[in-house]
Amino acid sequence: MSIAETSDLWWKNAVIYCLDPETFFDGDGDGTGDFSGLIQRVDYLAALGVTCIWLMPFYPTPDRDDGYDVTDMYGVDRRLGTLGDVVEFIRTAKDRGMRVIADFVVNHTSDRHPWFVESRKSLDNPYRDYYVWRDDTPPDTSDEVVFPGEESSIWTRDQATGEWYLHMFAKHQPDLNVANPKVRDEIAKSMGFWLQLGIDGFRLDAVPFFLELRGAPEDKAARIDPHDYLAALRSFLNRRNGSGVLLGEVNLPYKDQLKYFGGPEGNELNMQFDFLSMQMMYLSLAREDARPLATNLKSRPKIHPDNQWAMFVRNHDELTLDKLSDTEREEVFAAFGPDENMQMYGRGLRRRLPTMLSGDPARIRMVYSLMFSLPGTPVLFYGEEIGMGEDLRAEGRSAVRSPMQWSSAENGGFSTAPAKDLVAQPVDGSFGPEFINVASAKREPGSLWNFVATLIQRYRESPELGWGDFELLKQPSAQVLLHRSTWSGSTVVLAHNFGAERTSVSASVTGAGTAKQGLAGAYLEDLLGGEDVPFDDDGNVRFELDRYGYRWFRVHRPENLKLV
Ligand code: NOJ
Repeated sequence: MSIAETSDLWWKNAVIYCLDPETFFDGDGDGTGDFSGLIQRVDYLAALGVTCIWLMPFYPTPDRDDGYDVTDMYGVDRRLGTLGDVVEFIRTAKDRGMRVIADFVVNHTSDRHPWFVESRKSLDNPYRDYYVWRDDTPPDTSDEVVFPGEESSIWTRDQATGEWYLHMFAKHQPDLNVANPKVRDEIAKSMGFWLQLGIDGFRLDAVPFFLELRGAPEDKAARIDPHDYLAALRSFLNRRNGSGVLLGEVNLPYKDQLKYFGGPEGNELNMQFDFLSMQMMYLSLAREDARPLATNLKSRPKIHPDNQWAMFVRNHDELTLDKLSDTEREEVFAAFGPDENMQMYGRGLRRRLPTMLSGDPARIRMVYSLMFSLPGTPVLFYGEEIGMGEDLRAEGRSAVRSPMQWSSAENGGFSTAPAKDLVAQPVDGSFGPEFINVASAKREPGSLWNFVATLIQRYRESPELGWGDFELLKQPSAQVLLHRSTWSGSTVVLAHNFGAERTSVSASVTGAGTAKQGLAGAYLEDLLGGEDVPFDDDGNVRFELDRYGYRWFRVHRPENLKLV
């Protein structure tokens, strides 16, 4: 590959780490994490091998949706620090070779945002059209709410003017009207502001809702094509920062996701989370059968080579299983979250992986090995690298947002404040800081932390994974996922056993048409500390996989071994 084609597309094989400064590390001892604390932990992230930090919302907020309810798109929540602290953090991360992307929430604001405070005052307020209003009684939209059980309509009647405003999420999160050019300018200005401070891109919240023009004034002149707008926003971003990235939250079928990439031109979102592979992975885990995930990966559309899928095991929300059928979802619930208290919104789980897998170290490692080996860019949610569990005593999605567990000290080393002042309580019980924490994990050579750090190194050393062409390889066992990725003449081969039974894998990794003479001296070089595997005379390999085993190989071959 030439420099002209690949240089600066850093997101193609980044390692992204998502954290909320509020729950990461408390630098001033008041019980809430903050930027001064985060700065002290930048070296921790560098040592793990992270290349990009994704900051969850840190803007001023009444905090009714964990910061996804913003009152000022140019500011910093005072509890977390100042703009100066943010800049110090960005500078420190960059000094350690890491990029920083920020959650960008522009589908809606908080209802306490000064724009909405103005907008609701009167029909002719200059800010009225910053939001989406209707004067007629809305139909029943109870099946469209994103937070079922918390909201029953996407429209709420406002007392002052007697009209209804749109809110796809909670009623305290009124939707901005992107059909209004003034709103689009505000969004661009805010993006420009953060880029100027050194941010490398954005995790764009709720993209399909943000671009949805429902309820916007019918006036044709005011209407925009959502995809033209997204392309324009991306273009703006790249004029300000040539390697700035837009990582979008789009939980839709692949054919729709393709549109948000900008189709064959690839000029809208650079990256999107692969929600479907995530959900199918859980179905495969529940069934101990790799085929649901394999079938899904086969159906994933080809995207523009500059674009990328973001692979993840879980994010900060409920682990959504909304794209599974009802019976499939029930299977996953039964396997990994049978109690009602573990489930949310009838579609997801508020648990972290290690508890779902009953702490089985082999199975947990298999899942992370899988995530790092699937074609895309891996995204870790803080605490995954040490195997943190969830706090089911906490409300809703807060279950997976407990403080980072740094040590076995008071409050898990997160804060020196009295426990009653903590922004969130640490996990209780066998997944709590007494047993699961960074300090002991870093000391123990065989810990999950060291395993994840090794995976990160291998991932970074294997550009075939982020950049390459992905292919599933045929082999007889339903519990095994065997795939290869080829890039720039080099191939890696990855094997994962979803089953609790040890098994042997026998497969052709070179393809049927490989010239036999090319096999002389070729072998699979083990990348994770196992034995190398030779090819037989027909180009087949055979190796063992432990229960929930995983193997990473690179095809080591003389120049003339051509893979087909
Ligand atoms: C998606 C975010 O991931 C979620 O946490 C938030 O509640 C909604 N968008 C609304 O901003």
